[in-house]
Amino acid sequence: MPAVRSEATSDLWWKDAVIYGVDVKAFQDSDGDGIGDFDGLAERLGYLAELGVTCLWLLPIMRSPWRDNGYDVADYFDVDRRLGTMGDLVELLRAARERGIRVITDLVVNHTSDEHPWFRAARSSRDNPYRDYYVWRDRPQPQPRGIVFPGEETSNWELDQATGQYYLHRFYRFQPDLNIENPRVRAEFQKIMGLWLELGFSGFRVDAAPFLIETAGLPGKSPDDPHAPLRHMRELLSRRRGDAILLGEANVAPDQITGYFGRYGNELHLLLNFILNQALVLSLAREDARPLAEHLRDLPTTPLTCQYANFTRSADELSLDRLTADERAEVFAAFAPEERMRLYGRGIRRRLPSMLGGDQRRLELAYSLLFSLPDTPVLLYGEEIGMGEDLDVPSRASVRTAMQWSDAPNGGFSTAERIHPAIVADGPFGYRQVNVRAQLRDPDSLLHQVGALIRTRKDCPELGFGEWRLLQTDQPGALAHQADWAGGSVAVLHNLAGTGCQVKVDLGAARVEEQLADRRERPLPDQAGPIPLEPYGWRWLRLHPPG
Ligand code: NOJ
Repeated sequence: MPAVRSEATSDLWWKDAVIYGVDVKAFQDSDGDGIGDFDGLAERLGYLAELGVTCLWLLPIMRSPWRDNGYDVADYFDVDRRLGTMGDLVELLRAARERGIRVITDLVVNHTSDEHPWFRAARSSRDNPYRDYYVWRDRPQPQPRGIVFPGEETSNWELDQATGQYYLHRFYRFQPDLNIENPRVRAEFQKIMGLWLELGFSGFRVDAAPFLIETAGLPGKSPDDPHAPLRHMRELLSRRRGDAILLGEANVAPDQITGYFGRYGNELHLLLNFILNQALVLSLAREDARPLAEHLRDLPTTPLTCQYANFTRSADELSLDRLTADERAEVFAAFAPEERMRLYGRGIRRRLPSMLGGDQRRLELAYSLLFSLPDTPVLLYGEEIGMGEDLDVPSRASVRTAMQWSDAPNGGFSTAERIHPAIVADGPFGYRQVNVRAQLRDPDSLLHQVGALIRTRKDCPELGFGEWRLLQTDQPGALAHQADWAGGSVAVLHNLAGTGCQVKVDLGAARVEEQLADRRERPLPDQAGPIPLEPYGWRWLRLHPPG
Protein backbone atom coordinates (compact mmCIF):
# COMPACT_ATOMS: atom_id res chain seq x y z
CA MET A 1 0.00 0.00 0.00
CA PRO A 2 1.34 3.45 -0.74
CA ALA A 3 2.30 5.41 2.34
CA VAL A 4 0.30 8.45 1.27
CA ARG A 5 -3.13 8.00 -0.31
CA SER A 6 -3.70 11.42 -1.74
CA GLU A 7 -2.10 14.81 -2.11
CA ALA A 8 -5.27 16.70 -2.90
CA THR A 9 -4.34 19.71 -0.82
CA SER A 10 -0.68 19.92 -1.76
CA ASP A 11 0.78 22.21 -4.39
CA LEU A 12 0.94 19.15 -6.64
CA TRP A 13 -2.82 18.49 -6.45
CA TRP A 14 -3.08 18.70 -10.23
CA LYS A 15 -0.92 15.59 -10.70
CA ASP A 16 -3.71 13.50 -9.26
CA ALA A 17 -6.69 15.62 -10.31
CA VAL A 18 -9.79 14.60 -12.23
CA ILE A 19 -10.49 17.59 -14.46
CA TYR A 20 -13.96 18.16 -15.96
CA GLY A 21 -14.29 20.62 -18.85
CA VAL A 22 -17.60 22.44 -18.83
CA ASP A 23 -19.18 24.97 -21.14
CA VAL A 24 -21.23 26.95 -18.62
CA LYS A 25 -23.71 28.18 -21.21
CA ALA A 26 -24.56 24.58 -22.21
CA PHE A 27 -24.60 22.93 -18.79
CA GLN A 28 -27.59 24.05 -16.71
CA ASP A 29 -29.89 27.03 -17.08
CA SER A 30 -31.16 28.22 -13.68
CA ASP A 31 -33.34 31.17 -14.70
CA GLY A 32 -35.20 29.89 -17.75
CA ASP A 33 -33.60 32.23 -20.30
CA GLY A 34 -32.31 29.33 -22.38
CA ILE A 35 -28.65 29.88 -21.52
CA GLY A 36 -26.70 27.87 -18.96
CA ASP A 37 -25.29 29.95 -16.09
CA PHE A 38 -23.13 30.00 -12.96
CA ASP A 39 -26.11 29.37 -10.68
CA GLY A 40 -27.12 26.39 -12.77
CA LEU A 41 -23.62 24.95 -12.57
CA ALA A 42 -23.59 25.56 -8.82
CA GLU A 43 -26.80 23.54 -8.51
CA ARG A 44 -25.03 20.62 -10.15
CA LEU A 45 -21.94 20.63 -7.95
CA GLY A 46 -23.33 17.76 -5.91
CA TYR A 47 -23.53 15.64 -9.05
CA LEU A 48 -19.98 16.56 -10.04
CA ALA A 49 -18.59 15.93 -6.56
CA GLU A 50 -20.34 12.56 -6.46
CA LEU A 51 -18.86 11.69 -9.84
CA GLY A 52 -15.43 12.37 -8.36
CA VAL A 53 -14.48 15.55 -10.21
CA THR A 54 -11.77 17.48 -8.34
CA CYS A 55 -11.19 20.35 -10.75
CA LEU A 56 -13.62 22.15 -13.03
CA TRP A 57 -12.27 23.77 -16.16
CA LEU A 58 -14.71 26.47 -17.24
CA LEU A 59 -14.58 27.14 -20.98
CA PRO A 60 -14.39 30.91 -21.61
CA ILE A 61 -16.55 32.91 -19.23
CA MET A 62 -15.32 36.45 -19.92
CA ARG A 63 -17.48 38.95 -21.79
CA SER A 64 -17.64 38.02 -25.44
CA PRO A 65 -19.86 38.24 -28.53
CA TRP A 66 -19.59 34.40 -28.62
CA ARG A 67 -18.66 34.26 -32.27
CA ASP A 68 -16.01 31.68 -31.34
CA ASN A 69 -17.71 30.18 -28.30
CA GLY A 70 -16.20 32.81 -26.00
CA TYR A 71 -12.64 32.50 -27.31
CA ASP A 72 -13.24 36.00 -28.66
CA VAL A 73 -12.98 38.09 -25.51
CA ALA A 74 -14.39 41.62 -25.41
CA ASP A 75 -13.64 42.34 -21.72
CA TYR A 76 -11.12 40.44 -19.62
CA PHE A 77 -12.25 42.09 -16.40
CA ASP A 78 -15.86 40.97 -16.44
CA VAL A 79 -17.86 37.81 -16.91
CA ASP A 80 -20.31 37.47 -19.75
CA ARG A 81 -23.53 38.63 -18.13
CA ARG A 82 -25.58 35.97 -19.89
CA LEU A 83 -23.81 33.52 -17.56
CA GLY A 84 -24.51 35.55 -14.42
CA THR A 85 -22.76 38.26 -12.44
CA MET A 86 -19.37 38.38 -10.80
CA GLY A 87 -21.24 37.77 -7.57
CA ASP A 88 -22.78 34.58 -8.96
CA LEU A 89 -19.35 33.43 -10.08
CA VAL A 90 -17.82 34.03 -6.65
CA GLU A 91 -20.67 32.08 -5.10
CA LEU A 92 -19.97 29.22 -7.51
CA LEU A 93 -16.27 29.28 -6.60
CA ARG A 94 -17.10 29.25 -2.90
CA ALA A 95 -19.57 26.39 -3.25
CA ALA A 96 -17.08 24.40 -5.32
CA ARG A 97 -14.37 24.96 -2.72
CA GLU A 98 -16.73 23.68 -0.01
CA ARG A 99 -16.99 20.46 -1.96
CA GLY A 100 -13.26 20.17 -2.48
CA ILE A 101 -13.49 21.11 -6.15
CA ARG A 102 -11.02 23.57 -7.60
CA VAL A 103 -11.87 25.72 -10.60
CA ILE A 104 -9.72 26.91 -13.49
CA THR A 105 -10.83 28.82 -16.58
CA ASP A 106 -9.74 29.57 -20.10
CA LEU A 107 -7.41 32.51 -20.57
CA VAL A 108 -7.14 33.70 -24.15
CA VAL A 109 -3.93 35.68 -24.47
CA ASN A 110 -3.19 35.29 -28.16
CA HIS A 111 -6.08 37.39 -29.44
CA THR A 112 -9.14 39.42 -28.51
CA SER A 113 -12.49 39.93 -30.13
CA ASP A 114 -12.59 42.72 -32.69
CA GLU A 115 -15.23 44.21 -30.38
CA HIS A 116 -12.69 44.62 -27.58
CA PRO A 117 -12.20 48.33 -26.73
CA TRP A 118 -8.44 47.89 -27.24
CA PHE A 119 -9.00 46.86 -30.84
CA ARG A 120 -11.67 49.48 -31.43
CA ALA A 121 -9.20 52.11 -30.26
CA ALA A 122 -6.32 50.51 -32.16
CA ARG A 123 -8.14 50.66 -35.47
CA SER A 124 -9.42 54.20 -34.94
CA SER A 125 -6.15 55.69 -36.24
CA ARG A 126 -2.57 54.67 -36.93
CA ASP A 127 -1.27 56.78 -34.07
CA ASN A 128 -3.75 55.65 -31.45
CA PRO A 129 -1.92 54.58 -28.24
CA TYR A 130 -3.54 51.13 -28.53
CA ARG A 131 -2.33 50.60 -32.11
CA ASP A 132 0.66 48.55 -30.91
CA TYR A 133 -1.50 46.22 -28.88
CA TYR A 134 -2.00 44.40 -32.18
CA VAL A 135 0.20 43.38 -35.13
CA TRP A 136 -0.12 45.61 -38.21
CA ARG A 137 1.57 45.45 -41.61
CA ASP A 138 1.22 47.36 -44.85
CA ARG A 139 0.83 44.16 -46.83
CA PRO A 140 -0.27 40.61 -46.00
CA GLN A 141 2.78 38.60 -44.92
CA PRO A 142 3.71 35.03 -45.82
CA GLN A 143 1.73 32.38 -43.94
CA PRO A 144 4.23 29.65 -43.20
CA ARG A 145 1.97 27.99 -40.66
CA GLY A 146 -1.07 27.88 -42.91
CA ILE A 147 -4.68 28.57 -42.04
CA VAL A 148 -6.15 27.20 -38.80
CA PHE A 149 -9.72 26.98 -40.05
CA PRO A 150 -9.43 26.13 -43.77
CA GLY A 151 -12.69 26.66 -45.58
CA GLU A 152 -13.78 29.22 -42.99
CA GLU A 153 -10.84 31.62 -43.41
CA THR A 154 -8.51 32.20 -46.36
CA SER A 155 -5.80 34.41 -44.87
CA ASN A 156 -4.10 35.32 -41.60
CA TRP A 157 -4.14 39.00 -42.53
CA GLU A 158 -7.19 41.20 -42.77
CA LEU A 159 -7.28 44.68 -44.27
CA ASP A 160 -8.56 47.39 -41.98
CA GLN A 161 -10.21 49.68 -44.53
CA ALA A 162 -10.15 52.82 -42.40
CA THR A 163 -6.42 52.83 -41.67
CA GLY A 164 -5.25 50.96 -44.77
CA GLN A 165 -3.14 48.37 -42.94
CA TYR A 166 -3.52 44.64 -42.40
CA TYR A 167 -3.80 43.08 -38.95
CA LEU A 168 -2.70 39.58 -38.03
CA HIS A 169 -5.30 37.01 -37.01
CA ARG A 170 -4.23 33.40 -36.69
CA PHE A 171 -7.82 32.33 -36.02
CA TYR A 172 -10.97 34.02 -37.31
CA ARG A 173 -10.78 37.52 -38.82
CA PHE A 174 -12.82 38.80 -35.88
CA GLN A 175 -10.02 37.67 -33.53
CA PRO A 176 -7.09 40.06 -34.04
CA ASP A 177 -3.81 38.73 -32.59
CA LEU A 178 -2.40 40.68 -29.70
CA ASN A 179 1.16 41.94 -29.88
CA ILE A 180 2.48 40.00 -26.93
CA GLU A 181 5.87 41.69 -27.39
CA ASN A 182 4.37 44.94 -26.22
CA PRO A 183 5.16 45.44 -22.51
CA ARG A 184 1.84 47.20 -22.04
CA VAL A 185 -0.01 44.14 -23.29
CA ARG A 186 1.98 41.97 -20.90
CA ALA A 187 1.19 44.33 -18.06
CA GLU A 188 -2.52 44.08 -18.91
CA PHE A 189 -2.36 40.31 -18.61
CA GLN A 190 -0.61 40.50 -15.25
CA LYS A 191 -3.61 42.46 -14.00
CA ILE A 192 -6.07 40.15 -15.72
CA MET A 193 -4.52 37.04 -14.19
CA GLY A 194 -4.33 38.82 -10.85
CA LEU A 195 -8.05 39.51 -10.87
CA TRP A 196 -9.16 35.93 -11.54
CA LEU A 197 -6.64 34.49 -9.10
CA GLU A 198 -7.91 36.84 -6.39
CA LEU A 199 -11.44 35.69 -7.11
CA GLY A 200 -10.37 32.17 -6.24
CA PHE A 201 -9.45 30.43 -9.46
CA SER A 202 -6.79 27.76 -9.21
CA GLY A 203 -5.26 28.62 -12.53
CA PHE A 204 -5.90 28.84 -16.23
CA ARG A 205 -6.14 26.84 -19.39
CA VAL A 206 -3.82 28.75 -21.66
CA ASP A 207 -5.51 28.90 -25.02
CA ALA A 208 -3.48 28.51 -28.20
CA ALA A 209 -0.08 28.41 -26.47
CA PRO A 210 1.97 27.77 -29.65
CA PHE A 211 0.65 30.94 -31.23
CA LEU A 212 1.90 32.95 -28.28
CA ILE A 213 5.44 31.90 -28.86
CA GLU A 214 5.71 31.33 -32.59
CA THR A 215 8.03 33.52 -34.56
CA ALA A 216 8.46 32.15 -38.06
CA GLY A 217 7.24 34.66 -40.60
CA LEU A 218 5.02 36.37 -38.08
CA PRO A 219 6.75 39.57 -37.19
CA GLY A 220 5.92 41.05 -33.85
CA LYS A 221 5.72 37.68 -32.13
CA SER A 222 8.51 37.46 -29.53
CA PRO A 223 11.49 36.98 -31.84
CA ASP A 224 14.33 36.93 -29.31
CA ASP A 225 12.92 35.00 -26.42
CA PRO A 226 9.85 33.19 -27.75
CA HIS A 227 8.96 31.50 -24.49
CA ALA A 228 9.02 34.71 -22.46
CA PRO A 229 5.21 35.11 -22.43
CA LEU A 230 4.69 31.68 -20.89
CA ARG A 231 7.51 32.18 -18.40
CA HIS A 232 6.15 35.53 -17.32
CA MET A 233 2.69 34.07 -16.81
CA ARG A 234 4.15 31.27 -14.74
CA GLU A 235 6.20 33.70 -12.64
CA LEU A 236 3.17 35.80 -11.83
CA LEU A 237 1.14 32.73 -11.00
CA SER A 238 3.80 31.38 -8.67
CA ARG A 239 4.20 34.72 -6.90
CA ARG A 240 0.49 35.25 -6.41
CA ARG A 241 -0.70 31.73 -5.76
CA GLY A 242 1.79 28.91 -5.43
CA ASP A 243 -0.74 26.14 -5.96
CA ALA A 244 -2.30 27.57 -9.12
CA ILE A 245 -1.63 25.95 -12.48
CA LEU A 246 -1.29 26.61 -16.17
CA LEU A 247 -2.87 23.93 -18.33
CA GLY A 248 -1.70 24.53 -21.87
CA GLU A 249 -3.26 23.83 -25.20
CA ALA A 250 -0.42 23.06 -27.62
CA ASN A 251 -0.97 20.59 -30.41
CA VAL A 252 2.66 20.49 -31.55
CA ALA A 253 5.16 17.95 -32.88
CA PRO A 254 6.73 15.60 -30.31
CA ASP A 255 10.14 17.28 -30.54
CA GLN A 256 8.62 20.62 -29.53
CA ILE A 257 6.50 19.44 -26.63
CA THR A 258 8.97 19.62 -23.81
CA GLY A 259 9.78 23.24 -24.65
CA TYR A 260 6.37 24.17 -23.27
CA PHE A 261 7.24 22.88 -19.83
CA GLY A 262 10.28 25.14 -19.83
CA ARG A 263 13.88 24.11 -19.32
CA TYR A 264 13.46 24.15 -15.56
CA GLY A 265 9.83 23.15 -15.45
CA ASN A 266 9.07 26.85 -15.20
CA GLU A 267 6.42 27.30 -17.89
CA LEU A 268 3.25 25.18 -18.22
CA HIS A 269 2.40 22.70 -15.46
CA LEU A 270 0.14 20.57 -17.62
CA LEU A 271 -0.03 20.14 -21.35
CA LEU A 272 -3.04 18.65 -23.10
CA ASN A 273 -1.69 15.57 -24.82
CA PHE A 274 -2.93 15.76 -28.41
CA ILE A 275 -0.47 13.15 -29.63
CA LEU A 276 -1.64 10.56 -27.17
CA ASN A 277 -5.23 11.42 -28.00
CA GLN A 278 -4.64 10.68 -31.67
CA ALA A 279 -2.70 7.48 -30.96
CA LEU A 280 -5.54 6.34 -28.72
CA VAL A 281 -8.10 6.94 -31.44
CA LEU A 282 -5.95 5.08 -33.97
CA SER A 283 -5.59 2.16 -31.58
CA LEU A 284 -9.34 2.09 -30.95
CA ALA A 285 -10.00 2.17 -34.70
CA ARG A 286 -7.56 -0.66 -35.39
CA GLU A 287 -8.43 -2.59 -32.23
CA ASP A 288 -4.70 -2.86 -31.82
CA ALA A 289 -2.76 -1.56 -28.81
CA ARG A 290 0.49 -1.04 -30.67
CA PRO A 291 0.05 2.54 -31.92
CA LEU A 292 -0.81 3.61 -28.39
CA ALA A 293 2.09 1.66 -26.90
CA GLU A 294 4.47 3.13 -29.44
CA HIS A 295 3.41 6.67 -28.63
CA LEU A 296 3.59 6.07 -24.91
CA ARG A 297 7.09 4.71 -25.35
CA ASP A 298 8.15 7.74 -27.39
CA LEU A 299 6.46 10.32 -25.19
CA PRO A 300 9.06 12.90 -24.17
CA THR A 301 9.62 12.79 -20.42
CA THR A 302 8.50 15.84 -18.49
CA PRO A 303 10.29 17.72 -15.73
CA LEU A 304 9.22 16.39 -12.31
CA THR A 305 7.05 19.40 -11.68
CA CYS A 306 5.13 19.01 -14.93
CA GLN A 307 2.80 16.49 -16.47
CA TYR A 308 0.61 15.69 -19.47
CA ALA A 309 -3.17 15.97 -19.38
CA ASN A 310 -4.95 13.16 -21.23
CA PHE A 311 -8.32 13.46 -22.88
CA THR A 312 -10.51 11.44 -25.20
CA ARG A 313 -12.51 14.39 -26.54
CA SER A 314 -12.20 18.16 -26.55
CA ALA A 315 -14.87 20.73 -27.39
CA ASP A 316 -13.28 21.24 -30.83
CA GLU A 317 -12.93 18.85 -33.75
CA LEU A 318 -11.03 15.69 -32.84
CA SER A 319 -7.91 16.54 -34.77
CA LEU A 320 -5.99 13.75 -36.50
CA ASP A 321 -3.30 16.05 -37.83
CA ARG A 322 -0.43 14.19 -36.16
CA LEU A 323 -1.25 10.91 -37.90
CA THR A 324 0.04 9.97 -41.34
CA ALA A 325 -2.36 10.40 -44.26
CA ASP A 326 -2.97 6.63 -44.34
CA GLU A 327 -3.61 6.43 -40.62
CA ARG A 328 -5.97 9.39 -40.83
CA ALA A 329 -7.86 7.72 -43.70
CA GLU A 330 -8.15 4.58 -41.59
CA VAL A 331 -9.60 6.48 -38.63
CA PHE A 332 -11.96 8.42 -40.89
CA ALA A 333 -13.19 5.16 -42.44
CA ALA A 334 -13.80 3.63 -39.01
CA PHE A 335 -15.20 6.59 -37.09
CA ALA A 336 -16.32 9.26 -39.56
CA PRO A 337 -17.38 7.45 -42.72
CA GLU A 338 -19.50 10.35 -44.00
CA GLU A 339 -17.98 13.59 -45.22
CA ARG A 340 -20.26 15.69 -42.96
CA MET A 341 -18.71 13.97 -39.92
CA ARG A 342 -15.29 15.42 -40.84
CA LEU A 343 -13.87 18.89 -40.57
CA TYR A 344 -10.97 20.84 -42.08
CA GLY A 345 -9.73 17.66 -43.76
CA ARG A 346 -8.03 16.72 -40.50
CA GLY A 347 -10.64 16.13 -37.82
CA ILE A 348 -13.85 14.49 -36.70
CA ARG A 349 -16.79 16.50 -35.40
CA ARG A 350 -18.44 13.64 -33.54
CA ARG A 351 -18.24 12.65 -29.90
CA LEU A 352 -16.72 9.33 -28.87
CA PRO A 353 -19.96 7.34 -28.23
CA SER A 354 -21.23 7.77 -31.76
CA MET A 355 -17.75 7.14 -33.17
CA LEU A 356 -17.77 3.84 -31.29
CA GLY A 357 -21.24 2.98 -32.55
CA GLY A 358 -22.74 3.35 -29.09
CA ASP A 359 -20.95 0.17 -27.94
CA GLN A 360 -20.77 0.56 -24.17
CA ARG A 361 -17.99 -2.01 -23.84
CA ARG A 362 -15.75 0.02 -26.11
CA LEU A 363 -16.66 3.26 -24.38
CA GLU A 364 -15.82 1.81 -20.99
CA LEU A 365 -12.55 0.55 -22.42
CA ALA A 366 -11.74 4.07 -23.65
CA TYR A 367 -12.51 5.58 -20.24
CA SER A 368 -10.60 2.88 -18.41
CA LEU A 369 -7.62 3.90 -20.54
CA LEU A 370 -8.24 7.59 -19.86
CA PHE A 371 -8.35 7.13 -16.10
CA SER A 372 -5.52 4.63 -15.81
CA LEU A 373 -2.93 5.99 -18.22
CA PRO A 374 -0.17 7.92 -16.52
CA ASP A 375 -0.74 11.66 -16.06
CA THR A 376 -3.90 13.71 -15.44
CA PRO A 377 -7.29 12.80 -16.97
CA VAL A 378 -9.59 15.45 -18.43
CA LEU A 379 -13.23 14.66 -19.15
CA LEU A 380 -15.50 16.80 -21.33
CA TYR A 381 -18.99 17.41 -19.88
CA GLY A 382 -21.44 14.74 -20.96
CA GLU A 383 -18.81 12.10 -21.68
CA GLU A 384 -19.70 10.31 -18.47
CA ILE A 385 -23.19 9.55 -19.81
CA GLY A 386 -22.16 8.95 -23.42
CA MET A 387 -23.61 12.05 -25.09
CA GLY A 388 -23.50 12.22 -28.89
CA GLU A 389 -23.41 15.22 -31.22
CA ASP A 390 -25.71 17.14 -33.54
CA LEU A 391 -24.28 17.09 -37.04
CA ASP A 392 -26.85 19.64 -38.20
CA VAL A 393 -25.03 22.23 -36.12
CA PRO A 394 -22.26 23.65 -38.29
CA SER A 395 -18.54 23.16 -37.79
CA ARG A 396 -17.07 22.43 -34.34
CA ALA A 397 -20.23 23.36 -32.46
CA SER A 398 -21.71 19.93 -33.28
CA VAL A 399 -20.20 18.58 -30.05
CA ARG A 400 -21.13 21.56 -27.86
CA THR A 401 -24.76 20.60 -27.30
CA ALA A 402 -26.66 21.04 -24.03
CA MET A 403 -26.06 18.69 -21.12
CA GLN A 404 -28.70 15.95 -20.98
CA TRP A 405 -30.03 15.75 -17.43
CA SER A 406 -33.35 13.96 -17.90
CA ASP A 407 -36.06 13.12 -20.40
CA ALA A 408 -37.92 16.37 -19.58
CA PRO A 409 -38.23 18.99 -22.33
CA ASN A 410 -34.80 20.33 -23.32
CA GLY A 411 -33.32 17.35 -21.52
CA GLY A 412 -33.83 19.16 -18.21
CA PHE A 413 -31.21 21.72 -19.28
CA SER A 414 -33.67 24.63 -19.36
CA THR A 415 -37.35 25.43 -19.05
CA ALA A 416 -37.15 28.03 -21.82
CA GLU A 417 -39.03 27.55 -25.06
CA ARG A 418 -35.97 28.33 -27.12
CA ILE A 419 -32.53 27.49 -25.86
CA HIS A 420 -29.16 28.90 -26.87
CA PRO A 421 -27.13 25.70 -27.33
CA ALA A 422 -28.39 22.97 -29.62
CA ILE A 423 -29.61 19.81 -27.91
CA VAL A 424 -29.59 16.26 -29.22
CA ALA A 425 -33.28 15.41 -29.13
CA ASP A 426 -33.69 12.41 -31.39
CA GLY A 427 -32.01 9.15 -32.22
CA PRO A 428 -30.07 6.79 -30.00
CA PHE A 429 -28.15 9.65 -28.33
CA GLY A 430 -31.15 11.93 -27.84
CA TYR A 431 -31.88 13.12 -24.32
CA ARG A 432 -34.82 10.77 -23.88
CA GLN A 433 -32.44 7.83 -24.29
CA VAL A 434 -29.23 9.25 -22.84
CA ASN A 435 -29.56 11.30 -19.68
CA VAL A 436 -28.18 11.58 -16.16
CA ARG A 437 -31.42 10.76 -14.38
CA ALA A 438 -31.94 7.43 -16.13
CA GLN A 439 -28.31 6.45 -15.68
CA LEU A 440 -28.28 7.28 -11.99
CA ARG A 441 -31.02 4.68 -11.56
CA ASP A 442 -29.32 2.03 -13.66
CA PRO A 443 -26.42 0.22 -11.96
CA ASP A 444 -25.21 -0.95 -15.39
CA SER A 445 -25.00 2.55 -16.82
CA LEU A 446 -21.92 4.16 -18.27
CA LEU A 447 -22.26 6.85 -15.60
CA HIS A 448 -21.89 4.27 -12.83
CA GLN A 449 -18.90 2.71 -14.50
CA VAL A 450 -17.17 6.08 -15.05
CA GLY A 451 -17.82 6.86 -11.37
CA ALA A 452 -16.24 3.54 -10.40
CA LEU A 453 -13.23 4.24 -12.60
CA ILE A 454 -12.74 7.64 -11.00
CA ARG A 455 -13.07 6.23 -7.48
CA THR A 456 -10.56 3.52 -8.29
CA ARG A 457 -8.22 6.03 -9.84
CA LYS A 458 -8.29 7.92 -6.56
CA ASP A 459 -7.31 4.75 -4.75
CA CYS A 460 -4.33 4.45 -7.07
CA PRO A 461 -2.28 7.62 -6.54
CA GLU A 462 0.58 5.76 -8.24
CA LEU A 463 -1.08 6.63 -11.57
CA GLY A 464 -0.87 10.37 -11.03
CA PHE A 465 2.29 10.71 -8.98
CA GLY A 466 4.30 7.63 -9.79
CA GLU A 467 6.89 6.36 -12.20
CA TRP A 468 5.28 4.28 -14.90
CA ARG A 469 6.38 1.84 -17.57
CA LEU A 470 4.82 -0.32 -20.24
CA LEU A 471 4.82 -4.05 -19.57
CA GLN A 472 5.57 -6.46 -22.37
CA THR A 473 2.54 -8.42 -23.57
CA ASP A 474 2.23 -11.23 -26.12
CA GLN A 475 -1.03 -9.97 -27.69
CA PRO A 476 -1.24 -7.17 -30.28
CA GLY A 477 -4.54 -6.03 -28.82
CA ALA A 478 -3.28 -5.85 -25.25
CA LEU A 479 -1.77 -2.89 -23.46
CA ALA A 480 -0.31 -3.33 -19.99
CA HIS A 481 1.32 -0.71 -17.82
CA GLN A 482 2.53 -0.45 -14.27
CA ALA A 483 2.92 2.56 -12.01
CA ASP A 484 4.90 2.65 -8.76
CA TRP A 485 4.91 5.28 -6.08
CA ALA A 486 5.58 5.54 -2.37
CA GLY A 487 5.85 1.79 -1.94
CA GLY A 488 2.67 0.99 -3.87
CA SER A 489 2.31 -0.60 -7.31
CA VAL A 490 -0.57 -0.85 -9.71
CA ALA A 491 -0.77 -2.66 -13.04
CA VAL A 492 -3.55 -2.09 -15.56
CA LEU A 493 -4.33 -4.38 -18.47
CA HIS A 494 -6.49 -3.53 -21.47
CA ASN A 495 -7.66 -5.53 -24.44
CA LEU A 496 -8.42 -3.21 -27.34
CA ALA A 497 -9.53 -6.06 -29.55
CA GLY A 498 -13.06 -7.37 -29.99
CA THR A 499 -11.93 -10.93 -29.32
CA GLY A 500 -11.03 -12.22 -25.88
CA CYS A 501 -7.46 -13.25 -25.12
CA GLN A 502 -5.17 -14.70 -22.50
CA VAL A 503 -2.36 -12.24 -22.00
CA LYS A 504 1.06 -13.17 -20.72
CA VAL A 505 2.48 -10.34 -18.70
CA ASP A 506 5.25 -10.36 -16.14
CA LEU A 507 3.99 -9.00 -12.83
CA GLY A 508 7.01 -10.34 -10.95
CA ALA A 509 6.35 -12.27 -7.77
CA ALA A 510 3.64 -9.87 -6.64
CA ARG A 511 0.48 -11.02 -4.94
CA VAL A 512 -2.21 -9.64 -7.22
CA GLU A 513 -5.47 -8.16 -6.03
CA GLU A 514 -8.13 -6.99 -8.47
CA GLN A 515 -9.13 -3.36 -7.86
CA LEU A 516 -11.66 -2.98 -10.65
CA ALA A 517 -12.46 -4.71 -13.92
CA ASP A 518 -14.95 -4.69 -16.75
CA ARG A 519 -18.26 -6.24 -15.81
CA ARG A 520 -17.48 -9.66 -17.17
CA GLU A 521 -15.00 -10.34 -14.39
CA ARG A 522 -13.53 -13.77 -14.05
CA PRO A 523 -11.19 -14.99 -11.34
CA LEU A 524 -7.53 -14.20 -11.67
CA PRO A 525 -5.28 -17.21 -12.18
CA ASP A 526 -3.87 -18.56 -8.92
CA GLN A 527 -0.27 -18.16 -9.79
CA ALA A 528 1.71 -16.43 -12.48
CA GLY A 529 -0.01 -17.49 -15.67
CA PRO A 530 -1.72 -15.76 -18.57
CA ILE A 531 -4.47 -13.40 -17.49
CA PRO A 532 -7.83 -13.68 -19.26
CA LEU A 533 -9.19 -10.53 -20.83
CA GLU A 534 -12.66 -10.26 -22.33
CA PRO A 535 -13.27 -8.62 -25.72
CA TYR A 536 -12.60 -4.92 -25.01
CA GLY A 537 -11.93 -6.03 -21.43
CA TRP A 538 -9.73 -4.44 -18.81
CA ARG A 539 -8.49 -5.12 -15.30
CA TRP A 540 -6.89 -2.85 -12.73
CA LEU A 541 -4.61 -4.83 -10.42
CA ARG A 542 -2.93 -3.83 -7.18
CA LEU A 543 0.42 -5.55 -6.76
CA HIS A 544 1.33 -6.48 -3.20
CA PRO A 545 4.74 -7.68 -2.15
CA PRO A 546 4.79 -11.49 -2.16
CA GLY A 547 3.97 -13.35 1.03
C1 NOJ B 1 -8.58 26.70 -29.04
C2 NOJ B 1 -10.01 26.53 -28.65
O1 NOJ B 1 -10.18 25.25 -28.11
C3 NOJ B 1 -10.83 26.77 -29.89
O2 NOJ B 1 -12.18 26.45 -29.67
C4 NOJ B 1 -10.66 28.20 -30.33
O3 NOJ B 1 -11.36 28.43 -31.53
C5 NOJ B 1 -9.18 28.53 -30.55
N1 NOJ B 1 -8.35 28.06 -29.48
C6 NOJ B 1 -8.98 30.02 -30.69
O4 NOJ B 1 -9.12 30.66 -29.46
